[in-house]
Amino acid sequence: MSEADTSAARDDELEAFRRASHAAVDGVADHLAGLPSGPVWQPLPAALRKQLLDLPLPEHPVALDDLVATALRDVLPHAMGNGHPAFFGWVNPPPSRAGVMASLAAAAMNPSVVSGDHADVHLERAVVRWLAELVGFPHAPGAGLLTSGGSVATIVCLAGARNRALAAAGHDVRGDGLAGAPQLTAYVPAEAHSCVRRALELLGLGSGAMRKVPLEGGRLDATALRASIAADRASGALPALLVGSAGTVNTGAIDPLEALADVATAEELWFHVDGAYGAFGVLDPAIATRYRGMEQADSLVLDPHKWLGVPVDAGCALVQRGDDLRDAFSLIPPYLRHDTDAPVGTFAEHGLEQTRPFRALKTWATIAARGRAGIAAQVARANALARELATLVESEPELELAAAPETSIVAFRARPAACPPAGLDELNRALPEAVQARGRTFVTGTIFAGRETLRACILHPDTGSEHLATLLAEVVATARTLSAAE
Ligand SMILES: Cc1ncc(COP(=O)(O)O)c(C=O)c1O
Repeated sequence: MSEADTSAARDDELEAFRRASHAAVDGVADHLAGLPSGPVWQPLPAALRKQLLDLPLPEHPVALDDLVATALRDVLPHAMGNGHPAFFGWVNPPPSRAGVMASLAAAAMNPSVVSGDHADVHLERAVVRWLAELVGFPHAPGAGLLTSGGSVATIVCLAGARNRALAAAGHDVRGDGLAGAPQLTAYVPAEAHSCVRRALELLGLGSGAMRKVPLEGGRLDATALRASIAADRASGALPALLVGSAGTVNTGAIDPLEALADVATAEELWFHVDGAYGAFGVLDPAIATRYRGMEQADSLVLDPHKWLGVPVDAGCALVQRGDDLRDAFSLIPPYLRHDTDAPVGTFAEHGLEQTRPFRALKTWATIAARGRAGIAAQVARANALARELATLVESEPELELAAAPETSIVAFRARPAACPPAGLDELNRALPEAVQARGRTFVTGTIFAGRETLRACILHPDTGSEHLATLLAEVVATARTLSAAE
């Protein structure tokens, strides 16, 4: 091919990209516009499910226009449901429009965000600082990074905790592994997210070294906790870590962070706060004081892909001392040396990933498109809706509230008149899927205080009172139908 032909082919390719991308943007905008009027979720038609599962590997190129058409026809209409304002499942908001838009530009740049003098690296440093500022956590350059989510951010933070504790005990875990190391113990509230246990297991502490933090009705029994720590010390173990939740996944409860911080300071434990779901709740003036103590944590996990609505994936690990992460992770092969990063280190020196996606652009766009005030207003509105939902639950005889909401999660149970008390657990376990199948709302379940419980998590900026009413009407009607069928 002549040079002129090559250049013409390149122009054609770019033109095809421009045309198909415009069609994709139009299709995505139509999809977003149509979401509120469609079913919240519906099962995939069996034939389409099979078609997707059995997709043959294409031997020859497929035109971009055709790729867009297929995606718009076969994929976008069959979403998880979190784009709909009557979706209350798990902890999954819709993506911010600004974040969706920025994702295209980030993919077009396609950097590996590790180090160097390119915009993505500097933007991630700024965005991590913004996130710390949003929740009032102290921040020094290098003391945090974006991750794929809260689970990985937790592993990152707890690796820092483990290594610092073992280093202080004179054990080189990076060189020697855990063989011969003192047994570390971790103090973890019963309602902590499962990712904390998984991190401890992965880091070799073992879930057997987890002690329950004595929390009764949200109050810490500091005397009992300190007695448990003393007993562990007396038996030769090394108490190392204390965990608190700034918003539990089951009920959105905020642990007494200040009291936990006091114990951690007195006992010289690493204090870790899981704020993946709830830390942004601190922006609501009505509950801000409940978060006192969060700023004292040695490490804090946030999930911008939860309450902020940054398109998945975007988690964040923040620490007081960047060197704690650098000590745990830094390993620079000669081919990756970059002397200009020396003072703060590269992102790869602070976490698990080497090649890292450009998560900062969608996070930047999501925050900037609303500003701190806009985000705070949305957070406060979600919390107010949760209180409204709790009041509605309490006024409905066939429902009962499992816990008063502190943030934007409401845990409740159905108790239809026709269902005997002994059947309530079975009924509440079956309810979420039965409600989801009706397509008008979407709620998920959990076990709270030993009982099958529904939990409604309010994160969609367009959720309103009408959607709360739909949720409760659907739960009551479905519970009656299920009990009648028994
Ligand atoms: C309180 C809490 N912590 C941690 C996580 C884990 O975060 P991710 O799903 O981003 O890994 C979740 C997820 O729902 C959560 O709600």
